[in-house]
Amino acid sequence: MSLTSLLLWGSDLLHHAGCLTAKLDAQVLLAHSLNIDRVSLLLDKQQLTDQDSKKYKKFIERRCQGEPIAYLIGRCEFWSLDFDVTPDVLIPRPETEIMVEKGLNLIKTIDHPHVADVGTGCGVMAIVMKKERNDVSMVATDNSCKALDVVKRNAIKHRTSIDIRHGDLCEAFKQEEQFDLIVANLPYISSDEIADLDLDFEPRSALDGGKDGLDIINIFLNSVFRYMKPHAPLLLEHGFDQNDKINAIFSQTNQFLPAQTLSDYSDLPRITYACKK
Ligand SMILES: C[S@@+](CC[C@H](N)C(=O)[O-])C[C@H]1O[C@@H](n2cnc3c(N)ncnc32)[C@H](O)[C@@H]1O
Repeated sequence: MSLTSLLLWGSDLLHHAGCLTAKLDAQVLLAHSLNIDRVSLLLDKQQLTDQDSKKYKKFIERRCQGEPIAYLIGRCEFWSLDFDVTPDVLIPRPETEIMVEKGLNLIKTIDHPHVADVGTGCGVMAIVMKKERNDVSMVATDNSCKALDVVKRNAIKHRTSIDIRHGDLCEAFKQEEQFDLIVANLPYISSDEIADLDLDFEPRSALDGGKDGLDIINIFLNSVFRYMKPHAPLLLEHGFDQNDKINAIFSQTNQFLPAQTLSDYSDLPRITYACKK
């Protein structure tokens, strides 16, 4: 079978399985099976072994069952950079880039800022901020050791030196430590909603925020201010209908100035931030 006919075969199967990006996915999976890039693939000059062909067909089968492309190829793009991902981490979403952009903007006048990314997943926010601002002393934390293994790989891949720590929320911080900025994309989906989602592949522990989705964020906001310098901002990602509740939690702590909310690329309120008093 030529590469072109393999591509047609794969994209046809994916299309019938309901995949909206069937052609692109077939190309990505075939290129990955052959360990070449998509442009070389389209030249159709590559020799295909039986093993390559079997590998590709297995990938198509898994993709037809809904497995995300990022887990199949073990990589995803964030901030136009390539990051390793495994099923132990959430696949980073494009809207999280808005948080990185805002975070960098909020510390632009501070020299050698001390910054934390809590619930770092595969480490995208911490690594991008460190790459963009080399003078940042960056702490990346998560309560999943398997996620932190992926962060270590990504930090090496991008030649960034960040302080990777295991711990539950603020337990990963040192006693007297105070940050100039904290970013956190913690789980925020309610357990009931999670049950309705098609979550066969992404880790539940990265998404399940308890009864109303805000259990973890609530605990975090009620302890994190001790680790923030006066006027330091805290940015939180959340669901499009949670900004009022997040605002209320910020205000109940009595430790923060009034919060502000930013919208994502679909104009939905998805990031709220507040500065410590
Ligand atoms: C929604 S994912 C976000 C991952 C990454 N920050 C991103 O934006 O792609 C949430 C992350 O928080 C971590 N997490 C969940 N509960 C936590 C806790 N109590 N303490 C620290 N990390 C936690 C999960 O392991 C997961 O990696």
